[in-house]
Amino acid sequence: MSETTQSIHGQWSGKLAFILAATGSAVGLGNIWKFPYITGENGGGAFVLVYLLCIAFIGVPIMMAEILLGRRGRQSPINTMASIARAEGLSPAWKWLGVMGVVTGFIILSYYSVIAGWALAYVERAVSGAFQGANGEQVGAIFANLTGDWEKQLAWHTVFMVMTMLVVARGVRGGLERAVSILMPGLFVILIFLVGYAVAQGDFQKGWHFMFDPDFSRLNAHAVLTAMGHAFFTLSLGMGAIMIYGSYLPKNVSITRVSFTVAVADTVVALLAGLAIFPIVFANQLEPGAGPGLVFQTLPLAFGQMPGGIIIGTLFFIMLTFAAWSSAISIIEPAVAWLVEKVGVTRHVACLLAGTATWALGIGTILSFNAWSDKTWLGKTFFDILDYLTANILLPAGGFLIAIFVAWMMRRQSVLEELNVKDGPWFEFWHFLIRFVAPAAVVIVFVQAIGLLG
Ligand code: TRP
Repeated sequence: MSETTQSIHGQWSGKLAFILAATGSAVGLGNIWKFPYITGENGGGAFVLVYLLCIAFIGVPIMMAEILLGRRGRQSPINTMASIARAEGLSPAWKWLGVMGVVTGFIILSYYSVIAGWALAYVERAVSGAFQGANGEQVGAIFANLTGDWEKQLAWHTVFMVMTMLVVARGVRGGLERAVSILMPGLFVILIFLVGYAVAQGDFQKGWHFMFDPDFSRLNAHAVLTAMGHAFFTLSLGMGAIMIYGSYLPKNVSITRVSFTVAVADTVVALLAGLAIFPIVFANQLEPGAGPGLVFQTLPLAFGQMPGGIIIGTLFFIMLTFAAWSSAISIIEPAVAWLVEKVGVTRHVACLLAGTATWALGIGTILSFNAWSDKTWLGKTFFDILDYLTANILLPAGGFLIAIFVAWMMRRQSVLEELNVKDGPWFEFWHFLIRFVAPAAVVIVFVQAIGLLG
């Protein structure tokens, strides 16, 4: 059915454009902010190993499934699910998978934008030389000063939301391709440089061992759930973001190949971020489990000591902001595309609606770092709850349903046709992963984690 149909929202100019956009979506705060701090909180090596296994055996297969759904449906995730379900003779209720994705994206962006606001705020601090010669305590104070101040955070959160909605309003092709193709390589170069610095000046040995020597005694059901959830989060899976990018993918591009490329690029960036950060943590006797402030309390130390640190620090936080920007766009795109299709508003109005609602919810996250920091539920702040609910529950649940749909519900012939591969051992292997391994892994990890709570 999709031989000739194109999405009404546009199409990528080609394979490279898709890879850039999908990598732009995947590489973001998840890699540079979140991966290092959850690795630190969960004890390092064993957590990293589980995360890598989840990327390879759950993430990549589900990414392929999501892209193929998008390209077959060519609409927002909700209507894509509805129309494929119809074509396959399945229940129209599958569109609720798309609805769940839209809601998940809305929640994720609300806090994502607040953290991206921190990155913006740090551009200003880096330019002004605030980190020059600072010690661990001073760098910590700069961070506490920001998170303690809701007005400053609200201002930066607002700036970031406006930036995001401006690009989304212009449409995927117009705004996105160009921004991403310059900034992603830039971020990569700067990270390599920072790892070089960590080798020269940090405790690189200790950082390396922390990340790659698995200590399984540090692994519990909850760490495994976090690692799996993060595999979804970092690859932008489970809520239709990659699905909708797939809907703009030209017909002749190999889904298998682009999925691998994106997953490898994403993983390399996360590992580089860890290798830049942990040597600095250990060389300065900082706490690896410092939480969401980790990257903001470690790299500034390096920028404050290295020659040219003002320029490099400024560039780093600019690149980080851009990485977050190209991710944020993909988080809200399903909601915007759906508003356009369903409610019939223009893209601009859809952006205004989605953006305002997301912005308002973000205020809760801002307050959870100051006024509401002692308002907790099961030991979790408002931000922790949103993060847990989305990354650890909604994304894996969405991924589970995507796997079930593609592997158990759709006709094998349709799947083969859309993947555009021959029925052979490679297809069988992928089909096995998505039929059994990925869904079972999600269920087992969920059950284990619930057991831990109960
Ligand atoms: N993957 C991005 C990151 O690591 C965040 C992101 C973009 C995302 N799109 C998403 C997360 C969709 C979940 C779902 O920063």
